[in-house]
Amino acid sequence: MIPPKTIQDILEAARIEEVVGEFVTLRRRGVNLIGLCPFHGEKTPSFNVNPTRNIFKCFGCGKAGDPVTFLREHESMSFEDAIRWLGKKYRIEIEEVARTPEQLAEQQLADSLFILNEFAQKHYTEQLLNTDEGKSVALSYFKKRGLRDDTIQRFGLGYAPDTWDLLIQKAKQKGHSLTLLQKVGLCNAEATRDFFRARVIFTIHNLSGKVAAFAGRTLSSEKSIPKYINSPETAVYVKNKTLYGAFQARNAIRKLDECILVEGYMDVISLSQAGIENVVASSGTSLTDGQLQLIKRNTSNLTILYDGDAAGIKAALRGLDLALEQDLNVRIALLPDGHDPDTFVQEKGADALRDFLQSESKDFILFKTHLLLEETKGDPIKKAALVKDIVGSIAKIPDPIKRSLYQKECSALMHVDENALVQELNKIIGGTLKKQAEKANKGGQAASDLPTDPYAEGFSTPTDVGFPAPPPPKTDKKSIHERDIVRLLIQFGANTLEQGETVASYVLHDLEDALGSFEHPLYAKVALETLRLLQLEQPYTTQAFIQHPDEAIRSLSIDLLTEPWEYSPNWDLRVGYPLQNQPMPELNFEADMRYSVDAFKISKLRKMCEETNPARIREASAENNLEKLTDLLLLQQKIKETLNKLAHDRNIVVFPK
Ligand code: GTP
Ligand code: MN
Repeated sequence: MIPPKTIQDILEAARIEEVVGEFVTLRRRGVNLIGLCPFHGEKTPSFNVNPTRNIFKCFGCGKAGDPVTFLREHESMSFEDAIRWLGKKYRIEIEEVARTPEQLAEQQLADSLFILNEFAQKHYTEQLLNTDEGKSVALSYFKKRGLRDDTIQRFGLGYAPDTWDLLIQKAKQKGHSLTLLQKVGLCNAEATRDFFRARVIFTIHNLSGKVAAFAGRTLSSEKSIPKYINSPETAVYVKNKTLYGAFQARNAIRKLDECILVEGYMDVISLSQAGIENVVASSGTSLTDGQLQLIKRNTSNLTILYDGDAAGIKAALRGLDLALEQDLNVRIALLPDGHDPDTFVQEKGADALRDFLQSESKDFILFKTHLLLEETKGDPIKKAALVKDIVGSIAKIPDPIKRSLYQKECSALMHVDENALVQELNKIIGGTLKKQAEKANKGGQAASDLPTDPYAEGFSTPTDVGFPAPPPPKTDKKSIHERDIVRLLIQFGANTLEQGETVASYVLHDLEDALGSFEHPLYAKVALETLRLLQLEQPYTTQAFIQHPDEAIRSLSIDLLTEPWEYSPNWDLRVGYPLQNQPMPELNFEADMRYSVDAFKISKLRKMCEETNPARIREASAENNLEKLTDLLLLQQKIKETLNKLAHDRNIVVFPK
């Protein structure tokens, strides 16, 4: 394990422009550098590198992060590998410290399972290419299905011959542990029978190209034999986080900014061989969250290409809501009867399939609406259920702009008044937000100390790429002032005011009483985290947020730091002159701070004055509690005065009447 101190040193030494510069040609533009985004195809550069903040952000695809994130995303490195890579680049020596015995054991087990899989994969390929049985039974089968030699090699295809225990015997000979062979699912518990027998073999790779598992297809048409069997789940094969073909497809998915999802192994292989390489398979099961996150890390555009039969449509519909939740743009294309992607591309060629996708793929929500509408056939009860169903799907879309576009289209399609639809929608969204807030409050886990591995999430071997946390709830108008305070704390918190106090400390003290009244769970968390950081020995820095162990805080920080300035409300009010003449915002942080703090206070006081307090006054008056009533009325008076004074100073009209 790399000592935390060394990790810290390396993180501090790493310069974003130098790291990115190794992979992307950058040009200077002002204080920043720009280039063509390596994560999605583009012709005009929207990929920004900000040396001051030591982060990158693409305004086209939204990818953003620090040097480590860049290496993880661009080079598919694990956190540790990225640190090692940076250590080498910046000549910082890494002195390994011992792992805990459990970590060591876990790592060793994973390593040895990979070794066994690697061994088995070589065996299956050997059997396919260099034995009589393999050649006559399996190789001829693959050839008949149109596969080329390079494809067979690229996808690690193989053959497990019709024998009882050939793999076991081979493993013994080579001195491999049979217990481990059994652990990785390649033989039965007694180590007397191979798991895969008389089947052609498909190798399942993990994202970094290691052999994670296998699937075997029978060549027999006997109905009682399952067509496919799969390796069981192991420490190196987590089914619901694996997509078949993802390793081979990854670069193409990023370049084309689109992922095509098919059902079968052969579909992936055929399309890829034909030059449509951005394709992965769910392998017959419905999509899981983990698989969708894997896609989302590489593109936001998902096209589902399934057979046009009822089963295909059902399978596709099941994954839709989950995909929408991930903010994926989902399209669907259903193949003509009797075809699957493999047969279509083998018969008609890649261009025909591309044309088909171009002309036939439909937006998935509209597709679903059409489909269900057909089923209701004017039955009002069925139609009510349909509206609920569709609204449920739309509610899953995190982006409010996209949501409202769908509201319009779907209400027109279903002949339902848009307002009725919106009402239904708001009910659902309101419920979800409340649940999220409750969850975040309950989850109030103590933030850990400085990061050792800020990205460690769940099970991960060094070769396994982790999954990011779900996106934080979007900000609505109500919490805009809270968001602004949080931005201030992160962006300028470390800056020093004239009196020698830091912005962070000033803001927190000034808002002391209001700290508990943050309503947005994530912003509340950051405010508390600021308080904690201020009490630590280390200097308070923007980096501490950008590299925070909590994924939600990390990505919020980057969002806030890269938000275009044009969006900040009332810029000229805030700094005293219009945006066009804006010098470096960094120079105006004091004016910015005072404005934000006042605006925050005004919003909180307003809420007390218009909601909380009147409710309590009504309560007291209903209880006939005169003493309480007097107190509250006085308080109300005081709040109004403060509000008016603040508003007057800020030239904001609070009470028009
Ligand atoms: P070919 O018939 O060789 O073209 O394979 P295919 O991939 O087109 O098969 P099919 O369309 O029947 O099934 C699609 C996917 O579902 C397969 O690639 C498998 O991942 C999965 N699948 C199909 N049958 C079985 C089965 O019997 N068991 C398991 N575990 N998975 C299956
Ligand atoms: Mn098929």
